[in-house]
Amino acid sequence: MLDHLGQTKRTHSCGALRREQAGETVTLIGWVNSYRDHGSVLFVHLRDRAGITQVVFEKDNVELLERAQAARTEFVLAVTGKVVLRDENNFNPNMVTGEVEVYASELKVLNDAQTPPFELENCKAAEDLRLKYRYLDLRRPEMQANFKMRHNLTMAVRNTFDKMGFYEIETPILTKSTPEGARDYLVPSRTFPGKFFALPQSPQLFKQLLMISGMERYFQIARCFRDEDLRADRQPEFTQIDVEMSFVQPEDIFATIEPLIVECFKVAGIAPPATPFARMPYSEAMNKYGSDKPDLRFGLEMIDLSAQFADGPFPVFAEAVKKGGAVKAITVKGAATWSRKQYDEIGEHAKRHGAGGLAYIQVLEGESKSALTKFLGNEGINAINAAAGAQVGDAVLMIGGKWDLACNALGQVRLEIARRENLIDESVHKMLWVVDFPMFEYHPEDGRYYAMHHPFTSPIDDDINNLEGDLGKVRAKAYDLVMNGNELGGGSIRIHRADIQSKIFKALGLSEEEAREKFGFFLDALSYGTPPHGGIALGLDRMVMLFAGAKSLRDVIAFPKVASASDIMTDSPNVVAPEQLQELKIKSLA
Ligand code: AMO
Repeated sequence: MLDHLGQTKRTHSCGALRREQAGETVTLIGWVNSYRDHGSVLFVHLRDRAGITQVVFEKDNVELLERAQAARTEFVLAVTGKVVLRDENNFNPNMVTGEVEVYASELKVLNDAQTPPFELENCKAAEDLRLKYRYLDLRRPEMQANFKMRHNLTMAVRNTFDKMGFYEIETPILTKSTPEGARDYLVPSRTFPGKFFALPQSPQLFKQLLMISGMERYFQIARCFRDEDLRADRQPEFTQIDVEMSFVQPEDIFATIEPLIVECFKVAGIAPPATPFARMPYSEAMNKYGSDKPDLRFGLEMIDLSAQFADGPFPVFAEAVKKGGAVKAITVKGAATWSRKQYDEIGEHAKRHGAGGLAYIQVLEGESKSALTKFLGNEGINAINAAAGAQVGDAVLMIGGKWDLACNALGQVRLEIARRENLIDESVHKMLWVVDFPMFEYHPEDGRYYAMHHPFTSPIDDDINNLEGDLGKVRAKAYDLVMNGNELGGGSIRIHRADIQSKIFKALGLSEEEAREKFGFFLDALSYGTPPHGGIALGLDRMVMLFAGAKSLRDVIAFPKVASASDIMTDSPNVVAPEQLQELKIKSLA
């Protein structure tokens, strides 16, 4: 079929044909996914975004057959032919079009292709090679499915917010440093030599300004830039579903975000979780799961054995408790029979996450086995087992030390055991709001407090008095949304009063001049009738990764960076022409 310019036009996609079309003449356009040449007959799997169709070239049209035999993988072909129902025993259940094939009567080679540097089907290529030729990598059906999911989720987000009366508003990319705690990416200014823009780590201050501007409900699918160490769930350039609302408390934010998440589950074809989502204070999350993003798909809850070890005969733990630390424990069903090697490996895991070591009791019939027996005696060991609720056949694993360190290390042990023992049911999805975060985080290395979220987060009303007292006790109106142990998003109710904002800056050790220099424009704005407001940002890339079942953000970002924060396809960052530096009045010291 030709369009008005004489170009071949397809009548169907490569995923469309079913037995109902048998007998019709169709035109398909796509890439050669694979071919099998039997000499007198050639089978070509033609692929486009929608799927794959088998095309057959036969020797009764030798000229056509020979031209088709010259095609190689990734050639772009336009094929016209008749749809034929296959013999039942030739049905291919792995293809949605597997009941039919197209017998070609016309062929146009729209483009040839070099031999791809890796096989797209059953791809085993190293990720670096895939990223260098990302445009080929993205042709693979697995990747196409991820981006279809990304599009569908993004559209669902836009539609849901639109229905709820939100405005989508863009905020600047060339801007001033935003306080999210990472290093900034800087852009030199040509018109102001020696001065720099910062790329936004988030639109935080702008969305608050939009509330001051009376927009009431804002959202943005926002690009953010953070120069931080990369991990599988972190990219230097990523996308947030950024939200801000006026006249709200945390409950209003939850009531807005939960239906959005439910909608995303539906769009992803996954049974949505019940609402309202569970809520858990930060302190409980740390105490029971050793994490501010607990994975609730399995149990293995931690307990506190500090009271049992305080002033007791095991000096390491007694000392830890005396210094204000804690002894945290988990009871693992059936672990009494683990080998020494298994305990050593788990112990190493604990040490990698900051524990001094891992103590354990193998609870056995009669006498339990533990390195602690020589300190506590059998009776002491039995008392610990009883406190831990351990039965014969179980093991009690313990870490003592500073509270946060012991919680975190044992929390990592908990996750590692779940992985090793296959305790996670991947078909279950657990959503959780972690609430009541501490407002400040103490950094002993420079002896001062930092904002745990960011300095515009409102303290909990009851804790405002502590702003001039014990800063470690001040809790924030901050919340994180956690899905299956992953932080999907975070936000807070903001400070809308200049006097409280000043107190926070003071607590953070920021002088009035410093605060004005950094955020003067924002402090001015706060003094012009700021409505109470709050918001949240969800990581869109992380959300797509979880819904698509991908292992890395790189599989859901079209053109991602590698661990060194570089792009190996475009070979950036790279040097620039000396004249460009000259124009910017910049001299490279590298
Ligand atoms: P926060 O810094 O918690 O909050 O970020 C919100 C969410 O963004 C995602 N995210 C990332 N995703 C990929 N790569 C990264 N490097 C990365 N960093 C963060 C996470 C995270 O939960 N302005 C506040 C929000 C607010 O207070 O409203 C903010 O940016 O999923």
